[in-house]
Amino acid sequence: MSYFEGDVKNVAVIGAGAMGSGIAASLVLNGFKVIMIDIKPEFVDKGLSNIKRILDSRVKKEVITSDQANEYLKSVKTQVDYDNLAEIDFVIEAALEKIDVKTTIFCELDKILKKSAVIASNTSALSISELASHTNRSDRVIGMHFFNPAHVMKLVEVIPGLKTSQKTIETTQKLAKSLGKVGVVVNECPGFLVNRLLFPYMNEALYALELNLASIVQIDEMAVQFGLPMGPFTLMDMTGLDVCLDVNDFLYNEYGERFKTNKLLKLMVENGLLGQKSKAGFFVHDPSLAYGANKEINPKVLELLSGLRKTEQIKDEFSFNQVILPMFNEAIYAYQEKVVELADIDVAMSYGCGLKRGILSLSNEHGLKWCLAQIEKYHALYGERFRPSWFLKKIVRSGIYNIMEMTDNSQKDGLSLAKLT
Ligand code: 3HC
Repeated sequence: MSYFEGDVKNVAVIGAGAMGSGIAASLVLNGFKVIMIDIKPEFVDKGLSNIKRILDSRVKKEVITSDQANEYLKSVKTQVDYDNLAEIDFVIEAALEKIDVKTTIFCELDKILKKSAVIASNTSALSISELASHTNRSDRVIGMHFFNPAHVMKLVEVIPGLKTSQKTIETTQKLAKSLGKVGVVVNECPGFLVNRLLFPYMNEALYALELNLASIVQIDEMAVQFGLPMGPFTLMDMTGLDVCLDVNDFLYNEYGERFKTNKLLKLMVENGLLGQKSKAGFFVHDPSLAYGANKEINPKVLELLSGLRKTEQIKDEFSFNQVILPMFNEAIYAYQEKVVELADIDVAMSYGCGLKRGILSLSNEHGLKWCLAQIEKYHALYGERFRPSWFLKKIVRSGIYNIMEMTDNSQKDGLSLAKLT
């Protein structure tokens, strides 16, 4: 079978939502021609205005001139069908996070794209191997997972399916690099790496809120003090609570009780509180204000919470460890399953969600024994969401203090980025 050998030039993005249009913006800003496709004219129009907003912001920040912005905008074509895709070298699918929707798209694309074209999915968690099985080009199907805002966050998780060829991995890495991103190869598992670590943390923030251990603002502030650029509730509002629910439910189905979805998230989605996109989530969002400028708590959430909370509240003193340790524990689970190399974990968390310090640094600061003891304490209090990884127990028993002692490389080089780029 012939394979596309040259550089990727023409890219199609399926889906003109926040992710699709952010990816398209990233592509045109880096010299690619893009066809952005969605099912309705109003969807592609909205996506195009998002690209325009991003380009205008670049002009305001004097990164590009307004002439350049106009040229970049001309590099995006929009359409509501699969016509004119004969020259496309690479497709990035960023449609709804539903397996049926994505498999239909993959089947359709497989029929019309040239044989050498690669189809990548920006899925947050779904199986790349399953999507590939709906095509006759499993070797040229791959996961290319961007992070929101896609034109800003530097990480791209590159996820080969079972049959993805080395050549497809290299092409995808090269494309990520030409967008100024860092591609980290992640062995396929539900949620890949970053979402697998982010979701138990965001979910636990919801449980802490439900148990009335701390307020939305307090937990968000603690997260920022810990080294995250925004707290879990601000992040959920930005990501979209419907997306969070879909991903968390998927992870719960795949991994079980460790990911048991919190009821408040379900209730909020049922009540149409989807975050920024519906102008109301944990916070009320005024679209005329800059992102994050409005920090008014949505009274409807407090109403939903009071219906959920039991009269007798747990009186434990709250520590942010309760919310962040599930992220640490899941990082060890991912390492235990060889999803990534150890040194890649902190790099991915830094570029994917802006974590200014490594999540693994917890073991450096407090020692692995302390981390395990804390997780076991919460396990006894709250059950299976805190089941410690067996690998964590094994390394504690072996007397290792800091997880970074596990690799010679990480000790010698710190978090070597050279390996990743
Ligand atoms: N929604 C959308 N875009 C936003 C935003 C928001 N709430 N807040 C900021 N931005 C955009 C701004 O418009 C700006 O874009 P521009 O460069 O085109 O003008 C850009 O981000 C930078 O904004 P600021 O100058 O205000 O920069 P900040 O220093 O405040 O950083 C941030 C903003 C980059 C969003 C930072 O807070 C951050 O890194 N947050 C963490 C984001 C994160 O964790 N992303 C991963 C989510 S998980 C995911 O996407 C996976 C998916 O599968 C669920």
